[in-house]
Order: sequence, then structure tokens, then C-alpha cells
Amino acid sequence: MKIAVYPGSFDPITNGHLDIIKRASKVFDKVIVSILVNSSKTPCFEMEERRALIERVMGDLPNVEVDCFEGLLVNYVRKKGAHVIIKGLRAISDFEYEFQMALANTKIAPDIETLFMMTNQEYSYLSSSIVKELASLGGSLEGLVPDEIMQDIIDKVREHEERLKKR
Ligand SMILES: Nc1ncnc2c1ncn2[C@@H]1O[C@H](COP(=O)(O)OP(=O)(O)OP(=O)(O)O)[C@@H](O)[C@H]1O
Ligand SMILES: [Mg+2]
Repeated sequence: MKIAVYPGSFDPITNGHLDIIKRASKVFDKVIVSILVNSSKTPCFEMEERRALIERVMGDLPNVEVDCFEGLLVNYVRKKGAHVIIKGLRAISDFEYEFQMALANTKIAPDIETLFMMTNQEYSYLSSSIVKELASLGGSLEGLVPDEIMQDIIDKVREHEERLKKR
């Protein structure tokens, strides 16, 4: 069985992520969307909130599951019985960092392959950070995140900001 891991912070999931998930699910027998815990960034959405949002918009993709991980990615990938790491590639900005990461991972785990999927042109500028920034400034998220989670994202981003202000 060809299993692939699609890692990220998904803070929150966007239409760009969803597009990669759907396309990857057609290429692999199983895709594990793996939410990174304890990244250097402080997330806006709690782990379980991020998971719930992903599960709500995944629809009925039978071969996709959501999981979380911390620590070294290649160790986690092996533990899951996977051999492929999927990364989305947007503009040039993603390239340098991802290129380094992929080479470093190959060095420490030659049995694991990193596969890059080119962004959909429509989403080439889209990131979780942009979504959070727009939500906090009152901009529209139409077309950037799935409709069914749009309001939850706006509410959470505002709540998070209020909490930070009170500190
Ligand atoms: N619009 C997009 N098109 C294609 N791939 C994407 C897109 N957004 C994110 N990805 C990919 O999804 C994976 C997870 O990314 P990540 O969780 O960092 O999301 P992000 O949108 O870049 O968020 P942040 O702004 O917090 O960095 C990475 O491989 C990233 O390249
Ligand atoms: Mg990113």
C-alpha cells in the first residue's frame, strides 16, 4: 500500500491545503494529513480545533485520515508505514526552504521520498497567515477557505486577538 504523509501546521486549513489533499488522495492509496504540534510558531487554533476543521471539510475522501505528530518528521513517517512526504509548492519563496528540508531528510532517511505538488494557480498566493490577517482586518475569506468553516475561522481569529490584547 502506498501511504503518503502531508505535514503542516494547518492553522487553519485553507483551500490551498484542501486542493493538495484531494489531488494527493488520487495518487496514493492512503494520505495522512499530519498536524505538527509544537512548531516554533504559536498557533491561533488549538490542535483539536485544527483537526476538527480539517475533518469537517475533507468530505467523504475514504483514503484520507487526520493525525498529529511532534518531533522528527521522518521518524513519524516511518512509524506510519509511509515512504512519501508530500509538500505543496507555491512561489519561489517556498522553494529554498523546502529544497533544504528535502535534502536534509534524504540524508538522514534515504528510504523516504519528498514529493512536491505544484499549487493550483488560483491558490498560489494563499497561506494560513494571509487568511488570519484578512480575518483580523475584516477582509473577505470568500474562496480562500471552505464556506462551511469560514465563520468559525473569523470568530476564532478575533477571539484570539482579544485574548492577546488582554495580556
Ligand atoms: N496555497 C497553497 N498551495 C499549495 N500548497 C500549499 C498552499 N498553502 C500551503 N501549502 C503547503 O501545505 C503545507 C503545509 O503548510 P503550512 O501549514 O505551513 O500552511 P501555510 O499556508 O504555509 O501556513 P503559514 O502561513 O502558517 O506558513 C506545506 O507543504 C505548504 O507548502
Ligand atoms: Mg507555511
